[in-house]
Amino acid sequence: MQLFLFGQNLERPITPFKSQLLKWVGNKQRFAHEIVSYFPSRFEKYFEPFLGSGAVLATLAPVTAVGSDVYEPLIEIFRTLHLSPETLKRWYKERWLSMLAGDKVAEYERIKASYNAHPNAADLLFICRACYGGVIRFRQADGYISTPCGIHNPIPPKSFSLRVDEWRLRTKGAQFILADYEETMNMAKAGDMIYCDPPYRHSQGILYGSQSFDIERLYEVINGCKSKGVFVALSIDGTKQSGNLVCNIPIPDRLFEREVFLNCGRSMLKRFQMEGQSLESEIVTDRLLLTY
Ligand SMILES: C[S@@+](CC[C@H](N)C(=O)[O-])C[C@H]1O[C@@H](n2cnc3c(N)ncnc32)[C@H](O)[C@@H]1O
Repeated sequence: MQLFLFGQNLERPITPFKSQLLKWVGNKQRFAHEIVSYFPSRFEKYFEPFLGSGAVLATLAPVTAVGSDVYEPLIEIFRTLHLSPETLKRWYKERWLSMLAGDKVAEYERIKASYNAHPNAADLLFICRACYGGVIRFRQADGYISTPCGIHNPIPPKSFSLRVDEWRLRTKGAQFILADYEETMNMAKAGDMIYCDPPYRHSQGILYGSQSFDIERLYEVINGCKSKGVFVALSIDGTKQSGNLVCNIPIPDRLFEREVFLNCGRSMLKRFQMEGQSLESEIVTDRLLLTY
């Protein structure tokens, strides 16, 4: 396996796209361009089976793609982005205005309660932008959102609307589906490209609701894709605490051909947990494993 460090060997220049539509824990917005630069220079269809906020897909802006996730309200947001962007803008604006008009925290709590009573895309969209640290926490047992109101002011509707328009254009080649990753990955054919960003094992145990993640099953699916001639890139925990702790995720022999370490700055999760303490020493490095 060849090893590349800290993006020094970017294979082709990719313009960064840093304007987030959704705040999402573990999102790759800040260095999605680095990840994309390691994709093959030519491939057919693009698949992103752990879509989350869609940062990598929107940076790539593929001609034809499938973006999927198992989280239904999230996929509903992306479908609405395509089918009715004005609805997405309205969902955000209504909640933003009601927060401005009343008691900010009480209004946030009302929106959160509405989501918890009936999980839905409209409330989720606003909660992810307004919650503390942009880190939505779900209660393990039932997916109940517990994150308190953020201390920041969510971006104004005008800025959000501009983002909607930009994201709609950049993702216009994509179809969004609600699916387990295996179903999406099995759709790929020789010459297609898959980028996997599964829930992190070490730092995200409490996140994404009651989902638990079995990486061995993912390796098997990646292996099947690789043998069909599909290119696969997998993001996975790198080192934490300034390199003091290397996350020991077993990686099967011969599944990957290359490994890249990407410097992704401070961990969002750490920042949330340590509430304002200096985190200069908390540099996190992300690993990118490539089957090609
Ligand atoms: C680390 S996040 C992806 C972050 C994304 N790359 C971004 O930039 O925002 C992992 C995502 O995988 C989804 N997920 C968890 N288990 C899944 C499964 N079995 N199949 C598909 N998606 C899954 C979660 O809902 C979550 O959105």
